[in-house]
Amino acid sequence: MKFFVDTADVAAIKELNDLGMVDGVTTNPSLILKSGRDILEVTKEICDMVSGPVSAEVVATEAKAMIAEGLKLAKIAPNIAIKVPLTWDGLTACKAFASEGHMVNVTLCFSAAQAILAAKAGASFISPFIGRLDDNNIDGIELIADIRTIYDNYDFKTEILAASIRSVNHITDCAKIGADVITAPPAVIKAMASHVLTDRGLDQFLKDWAKTGQSII
Ligand code: G3P
Repeated sequence: MKFFVDTADVAAIKELNDLGMVDGVTTNPSLILKSGRDILEVTKEICDMVSGPVSAEVVATEAKAMIAEGLKLAKIAPNIAIKVPLTWDGLTACKAFASEGHMVNVTLCFSAAQAILAAKAGASFISPFIGRLDDNNIDGIELIADIRTIYDNYDFKTEILAASIRSVNHITDCAKIGADVITAPPAVIKAMASHVLTDRGLDQFLKDWAKTGQSII
């Protein structure tokens, strides 16, 4: 399973990247706003640091304008994945980008039917939003399982990039189903290391060690 980091926070990406935890990065307009940075500058900085795909999202809603924006974003670096929304215009732009050899991440996917269209339009990645489905009482993990089944049935090459990840359980559930990639906020990836029994066990070991009066160095 590949780990993408869902952020435009360069320091947070660097911390995980230095540990070998980063196979790629995803950004979106909300994350660019949160970073307070210029999209072209911050995306270039991320692309220089991370060798895997870095998703940068278009904001136009009409295919021709999306294509113009996407081609500009693709010039930032060879590892840009142009991110387009799952609309008819987005699929049109996806097909145009894919035909020219660009990586495309089709985002804002909320149904298996949408995921089929993205695969047929040549998307490199489909981004189903698990957390936002859960927010609306629809099982996001079930959608990942449905898309896995469908893509495997027809040997679609589009990678399932599970997005809108809110919890450690989302990540392990996606891994069990066989999602190709998860993209998660840095805090959720770091939370994977935490376990109450690890903390409790370490606390006991340290207390017992202190009682020995020994030191290793
Ligand atoms: O990359 C988009 C996606 O991961 C958004 O997540 O938590 O804003 O629904 P969230």
